[in-house]
Amino acid sequence: MIPITTVAFGPEEEQLVLDVLRSGAVAQGPKVKEFEDRFAEMFGAKHAVAVNNGTTALIASLEVLDLQPGDEVITTPFTFVATINAILQAGAMVRFADIGYDDFNIDPSSVAAQITDRTRVIAPVHLYGQMADMDPIMALAQANDLLVLEDSAQSHGASYKGKFAGTFGIGTFSFYATKNITTGEGGMITTDSDELADKLRTLRNQGMKARYVYEMAGNNYRLTDLQAVLALPQLSRYSETVSRRQENAAKLSAGLAGVRGLVTPVQLEGRKHVWHQYTVRITDDARISRDEFVARLGEAGIGCGVYYPKLIQDYDAYRNDPRVLRSDVPVASEVVRQVASIPVHTALTDDDIATIVDTINNVLGA
Ligand SMILES: Cc1ncc(COP(=O)(O)O)c(C=O)c1O
Repeated sequence: MIPITTVAFGPEEEQLVLDVLRSGAVAQGPKVKEFEDRFAEMFGAKHAVAVNNGTTALIASLEVLDLQPGDEVITTPFTFVATINAILQAGAMVRFADIGYDDFNIDPSSVAAQITDRTRVIAPVHLYGQMADMDPIMALAQANDLLVLEDSAQSHGASYKGKFAGTFGIGTFSFYATKNITTGEGGMITTDSDELADKLRTLRNQGMKARYVYEMAGNNYRLTDLQAVLALPQLSRYSETVSRRQENAAKLSAGLAGVRGLVTPVQLEGRKHVWHQYTVRITDDARISRDEFVARLGEAGIGCGVYYPKLIQDYDAYRNDPRVLRSDVPVASEVVRQVASIPVHTALTDDDIATIVDTINNVLGA
């Protein structure tokens, strides 16, 4: 079996965890601080604030941006459900913009059409490891006095015209087990604002500014040193990780060029893709349906995932929720029926890539 994702920790991570265990200080401490400082430095942010997962990172960001009930957040319907759950949890309404075929991310012209006098935030999700088209998104935000929240859960180190994900607005990241950098569970918020960083640090610690001095009604959003140490060696080798993913993506794209009914993913001009997922589209020209394609790869021992099988607004849980405003999203509605992600992770061998390419050529070939 060639899995869709792998997690590989080595002796270095084992030793670091052991050191924390033996120190007896296993909650949030100096290792979380080290992780935050290194993350901020590596990915171009003035501040990085660690929290216990990527969903919390979104919720905490919306809380410090001070969203009020009835405020609207424009985002994509083609995302992991956490993006929407966080917006609802923060008391806001969700409005959907359509996406682009090439980057699977919100389309600025569709965002423009969704702006109302209740809009407060534009929340692009940098899906699969490639950023959204940030220049026009930032221009819209500026022209309409809106905040920008970048859900960068899948895009650690991705960039747009040389500027990192999470540095255009307030940025959130996930370190869930499948992500390019993982602590099992974990999250990070990036911001250049001293004020927001300060509020976030207070919020995540029960609103406590100094010992038993409460500045706000907060929560426990803390990450632990046990988790934070897992990330440190991964940060050190992250540029290799991304190079490896890029090489694998290039090999897959070369091997899959010209297959009828298959559209391979592209890195768009000016953007650095970190290949969290390698996601193809199976179009109507293909011999078989997307679902059959996924099943056939599974039978051949190749892990293949559909991220995501439905648009958020089409799930029963959200369909009749008055806080979730449906919109017409023709591109997303088409793409959601076509996507399939195949392995691109660092544990792939050349033999694995050859097996994936041969199998797909067989399954879709004339
Ligand atoms: C786009 C997106 N947003 C938010 C999240 C939530 O992160 P977490 O699972 O760490 O809560 C994830 C990942 O799971 C995600 O992929």
